[in-house]
Amino acid sequence: MRASVSSALDIRRLLILASLLVLTALTLSGGFAGDAWGQRSDPVPSESPTGGQVPGNVLGSQADSDLWRAVRQGVQGRVSIPDTQAGQLIQSEGDNWRAWRNGPLTVYGAWILLGAVAVIALFFAVRGRIRIDAGASGVTVERFNMIERTAHWITATSFIVLAITGLNLMYGRHVLLPVLGPEIFSAISMAGKYAHNFLAFAFMVGVVMMFLLWIKDNIPSRLDLVWLAKGGGLFVKGVHPPAAKFNAGQKLIFWAVVLGGVSISLSGLALLFPFEFAFFAKTFEILNMVGFSLPTELTMMQEMQLSQLWHAIVGLVLIAIIVGHIYIGSVGMEGAFDAMGSGQVDSNWAREHHSVWAAKVAGGSHSHPAE
Ligand code: HEM
Repeated sequence: MRASVSSALDIRRLLILASLLVLTALTLSGGFAGDAWGQRSDPVPSESPTGGQVPGNVLGSQADSDLWRAVRQGVQGRVSIPDTQAGQLIQSEGDNWRAWRNGPLTVYGAWILLGAVAVIALFFAVRGRIRIDAGASGVTVERFNMIERTAHWITATSFIVLAITGLNLMYGRHVLLPVLGPEIFSAISMAGKYAHNFLAFAFMVGVVMMFLLWIKDNIPSRLDLVWLAKGGGLFVKGVHPPAAKFNAGQKLIFWAVVLGGVSISLSGLALLFPFEFAFFAKTFEILNMVGFSLPTELTMMQEMQLSQLWHAIVGLVLIAIIVGHIYIGSVGMEGAFDAMGSGQVDSNWAREHHSVWAAKVAGGSHSHPAE
């Protein structure tokens, strides 16, 4: 009986000894040290977010503030879903873009447009309508054929709708919304947005047609310098510097429409098909070759933001230029509209404003009495 009790005690002692050995081994190998059990080994336990604080103490030796600053500044992480842009939690440049769009762009844009209207009004007040000095002769010459006028009016009508609907996107909420109320304003803006998207293609076709038809007449020449030096004769009655089919002022408008038209079309396409085009990084690379120092690593989101800003800037500048063009092509100059209306202009108008071209046409047999 005594022997069996002492052997039971021995077994218990052996078990305790074995447990102690296992415990010691585990402790030395770090098995209970926390990490293997999903616990942190830090002396100070991590804290839950409290009082609006971000989750704390999750990075070991790295400061939490560094992590959240990087997130706030738009660091790009990795995600396993197809949309890699989701790897960026906060798109910081969005704030800058919004500030630019709603700030300087809108404000200076309004000044550019109001400035253009003010300059034209002042010009009209001082100079009045530019008349045909010699009076109408009653004989007309063909200035633009049907194809040329079609190209012009495709571009012109589409541009005017694009300008109005574009301005609505920028200023409508400030100007029209308070007057029309949300229902009417949103219906108009929706229709305007569709018109803007689809008529953009008509504008592109028109610009390409005008470019092909008129490039040969818009190459700069020495006559242009004389014309510019004399202010085109626009400011003094009776002064008519010589010009070929297009004078220097018209050539400037032509190139503004062609180059501005290409630029506004490309940036518009980038907005119409989001995240498909990256024009800015490539453009900046080229500009950097001639001394600029612009960023060439741009995210697709930054490309979109730059496209929007550039599209609006080119649009505003083009509208200001075209307001001047429309004025001089209609009420500002007697006899000018006919060139794009019927295609026939009075021969005295032609001699006064485009003497070199008029002499060339008179050499042919293009003139005939007006009806
Ligand atoms: C109601 C609006 C418009 C009117 C009344 C108008 C009128 C005219 C006239 C009369 C001409 C011929 C000038 C000449 O015989 O020498 C002309 C030419 C031209 N138009 Fe327009 N236009 C209008 C809108 C536009 C628009 C919106 C654009 C482009 C976005 C445009 C682009 C041009 C170009 C590039 C030329 C040739 C260069 C020049 O004459 O300045 N026009 N336009």
